[in-house]
Amino acid sequence: MKSKQVISNFDIYNNRLDLPKSIRLLFDAAEDARQNAYAPYSKFQVGAALLLSNDNIVIGNNQENAAYPSGLCAERVAIFHAAAQYPELSIEKIFISGTSLQNNTNQPVAPCGSCRQVISEYETKQKHNIEIYFSGASGAIIKAHSIQDLLPFAFNSSIL
Ligand code: THU
Repeated sequence: MKSKQVISNFDIYNNRLDLPKSIRLLFDAAEDARQNAYAPYSKFQVGAALLLSNDNIVIGNNQENAAYPSGLCAERVAIFHAAAQYPELSIEKIFISGTSLQNNTNQPVAPCGSCRQVISEYETKQKHNIEIYFSGASGAIIKAHSIQDLLPFAFNSSIL
């Protein structure tokens, strides 16, 4: 029997002002997107902002549905939109901002498992990492250098 240790690295910023200036723009775009989430059922609003390789920002927010599984997370709304509209561009960074309208928490909102799988797909497709930042309504912001830090042993096309 052998053991293997998987080490993930994260940077933690205290708040928005602690971020590099260029990332603050992305933070603001994700926050703005969050305000327009359609989340009447969970009352949990999430916004995502992508920085593309041409410096365009593409946003998304969660879109819920009375048939619950028909809804989609903010990250995937943004990523699928970017991939559809700008198939030739790569995704450099994603900023995720989420909060509950019911519970007052500033806990950073990490992407769900399905969104991690989708982010992983685009890292594979574009052959380079996507920086991932995530935050709550205020307070600390966590940065991962790549989805590999959030999704070790990912399932990807190399096995197909
Ligand atoms: N949600 C996201 O938009 N992104 C995530 O990574 C986690 C969850 C949404 C889905 C649903 O509309 C609400 O948050 C509660 O789960």
